[in-house]
Amino acid sequence: MSGVAGLLAAIADVGRDPRRGGVTRPVFSPAERTLREWFTAEAAARGLSVEPDGNGGLWAWWDLPPRAGRTTAQARRGALVTGSHLDSVPGGGRFDGPLGVASALAAVSDLQAREAAGQLTRNRALAILVPAEEEGSRFGVACLGSRLMTGDLDPARALALTDADGTTFAEALHAAGLDPARAGRDPAALDSIGDFVELHVEQGRNLAPLAEDAAPGPAVAVGSSILGHGRWRLSLHGQGNHAGTTLMEDRADPMVAAAQVVLAVRKAAGQVPDARATVGRLEPVPGGTNVIASRVDLWLDVRHPEDHVTAELVQRIHGQAQKTAAFEGCTASLTEESSTGTVQFDPVLAGMLTESLRRTVPDAPLLATGAGHDAGVLARHKPAGMLFVRNPTGISHAPEEHVEDDDADTGAAALADALADLL
Ligand code: GLV
Ligand code: MN
Ligand code: MN
Repeated sequence: MSGVAGLLAAIADVGRDPRRGGVTRPVFSPAERTLREWFTAEAAARGLSVEPDGNGGLWAWWDLPPRAGRTTAQARRGALVTGSHLDSVPGGGRFDGPLGVASALAAVSDLQAREAAGQLTRNRALAILVPAEEEGSRFGVACLGSRLMTGDLDPARALALTDADGTTFAEALHAAGLDPARAGRDPAALDSIGDFVELHVEQGRNLAPLAEDAAPGPAVAVGSSILGHGRWRLSLHGQGNHAGTTLMEDRADPMVAAAQVVLAVRKAAGQVPDARATVGRLEPVPGGTNVIASRVDLWLDVRHPEDHVTAELVQRIHGQAQKTAAFEGCTASLTEESSTGTVQFDPVLAGMLTESLRRTVPDAPLLATGAGHDAGVLARHKPAGMLFVRNPTGISHAPEEHVEDDDADTGAAALADALADLL
């Protein structure tokens, strides 16, 4: 088995979800903590020192050799940082996140062999960063760890976020042995990032073969931009009541309003070129078969290249939801959970990545992605870039997400070349 596939095989069953299919690895769940232990052991086996940060992230440092008069912190300033996340969406694929972490570990092994052979000179330290809660599948806010580190998210708001069981992010940090008081903007961590490069599975059909008999295209692409995106919680409030004793004309049923909102979302987004809007999660409260819900929470994911179009679309959906709710004797309220404008990756770094890839993937294209990433959050503060590895199914956030072993190795080799050039 190849290097990256071998690393991923060791964690393939962690968080396997027989009900949904795929894997479910919410941040700080037993499954995600097992992955953290795996990462820590693999990093330690490569001589890296693993340190947690105050925002739930893990850093594995390949430090420069000690030099008189220079502290470790000084030597880490402006380091080259790579990595990705270990948490997953519910019932997600095995590659979204862990592919970038395993590829970073494989790339470090490769670079260490090059250094031992006298083929690599390092001018700066290298770290693998695993930020916490990239998917936002437990506490609602995507890229929670990196937004906290950069100061883009108020720590008081983050610490008060709750999961489905009512556990706060502060309690989850505490349970993981971390001090919630340390959460928030981390100037030392930010200072230590000179450039950030995240390798990730491609999440659409951009590198997938067009037909079964088509000639294979490039296995790796360089990221150019991330589509602006955000999440909103739309709550529809009605009157909880008995399913048998409440006549149809006497109901204020927020589920009936929610059903109409789902259709309105598809219609509204369908009228805006390049827009994507999704309702992937709907929660009736209290959620009983013989109970008319008193409230339905509906989560809305909206994406568009132009941020003002996203805002207008969300407002249109909200207006429509208020009308629909009123017609059903209900009310609607909207709360923004997170939003990130369209991000253009640093063109100089993207050019350098393309140049480095000439050896392994000479035809690597530049690719814009519709998926969010920690690299997109960091790109607002530091030069950041991404590499995407071919996903032949073109499916992601689902068990069918896939990367062939050879492509995973090509990706790790491309990452190692890029890191070698940047070091
Ligand atoms: C993360 O994968 C997202 O795009 O929501
Ligand atoms: Mn991801
Ligand atoms: Mn994802």
